[in-house]
Amino acid sequence: MGLDIAPGLGSTEPVLGSTDCLFAELDRATAKLQPPFAVVELGAFDTNAAILRRNALGKPLRLVSKSLRCRALMRRALAQPGFKGVLAYTLPEALWLAEEFDDVLVAYPTANADALRHLAGDEELARRVTIMVDSVEHLDHLREAAAPVPGRPLRLCLELDMSLDLLGGRVHIGAHRSPVHTPEQALAMAHEIDKRPGVRLVGLMGYESQIAGVQDGPGSAKLKYPLVRLMQRISRAELAERRAEAVAAVRSAADIEFVNGGGTGSVVSTAADPSVTEIAAGSGLYSPALFDGYRSIRPLPAAFFALPVVRRPRPGIVTALGGGWTASGVPGWDRLPKPTFPRGLSYTRTEGAGEVQTPLRGRAADELALGSRVWMRHAKAGELAERVNTLQLVAAGRIVDEVPTYRGEGFAFA
Ligand SMILES: Cc1ncc(COP(=O)(O)O)c(C=O)c1O
Repeated sequence: MGLDIAPGLGSTEPVLGSTDCLFAELDRATAKLQPPFAVVELGAFDTNAAILRRNALGKPLRLVSKSLRCRALMRRALAQPGFKGVLAYTLPEALWLAEEFDDVLVAYPTANADALRHLAGDEELARRVTIMVDSVEHLDHLREAAAPVPGRPLRLCLELDMSLDLLGGRVHIGAHRSPVHTPEQALAMAHEIDKRPGVRLVGLMGYESQIAGVQDGPGSAKLKYPLVRLMQRISRAELAERRAEAVAAVRSAADIEFVNGGGTGSVVSTAADPSVTEIAAGSGLYSPALFDGYRSIRPLPAAFFALPVVRRPRPGIVTALGGGWTASGVPGWDRLPKPTFPRGLSYTRTEGAGEVQTPLRGRAADELALGSRVWMRHAKAGELAERVNTLQLVAAGRIVDEVPTYRGEGFAFA
């Protein structure tokens, strides 16, 4: 039996201090633009950086690149106190980012032989980029693809699986990530890496998705959230113990530089774990709709997109252009963008968010004219950047910059 707890069913209204003022400001700032376009409000972005920093209890935050997918905003975050290093999502991306960032950890394993060869053949890249492994299979692939040499060792991070197995593994809670689950397995991998030429174990990473990626606040399904909190209490206790043992075991075999854990949704509890030396965070900077349902952290919505109203099929309904900017994960209504302003607009059950048009119903519909904007929030953070070439940066009520997303720079990494 597998019990899969899906992140974020249902969500609360965003905590937008004064929603009407914010959107009046965004409307004024972007009046000359033709929607669709996306904006990031820099005041909220910087406040979120400060919220994450405060919750990290002095531990450095490693910036999760997949949750921003915009180099200009990554620079901005990394210039804030408390942020150090990048957590990238693919090796080709990391090789590109390493042109300007000197500490890039790839959070997921790679099977890209070309990128591995590139990494192994460049001394500076090999110093700046750390790749993820979790099995002997990865190490063998690395040896065959890149033939690393002792004079220029590749930096490896070992991923420890942080999911919760109950009832002897019959109930699995959390993401299916690494096969390395126990301290003994972690130690065996550390020894295996130590035996091999041209590679060096420099870190350990474990992402507790069942805590960081699951809403636990009243916004999540009413009956479910007490259960989620109970599961998370059990999981936090289990993983604090297991992670501490795994870290001690790995440290007995390798001189590791860091232990990475968590994400925006778990900053508070991950920071409190003494075995963790740094915390991953990214989504909290944009604060997409799925983050409205967390109890432990309430960042300010900072990323929005505007769609134009293009027709009015009947009273009470307007139709916006596009709209199906859906998020990854288990399919459901919570993966759709959240109609945010004007308030009270909602999807029709028969159409949801469409490929090229989205009907929206509600009180406000009849007040919207052709060309009016509907402001939306993406359910997830970085996936918004896959929909637009640029982000409009708004501060103090005006556009201060327009910056390219990864897509705008011509990259689609995953
Ligand atoms: C390894 C790792 N760390 C952290 C995160 C979460 O980062 P955030 O929610 O802060 O963007 C993820 C998200 O999937 C992840 O895979």
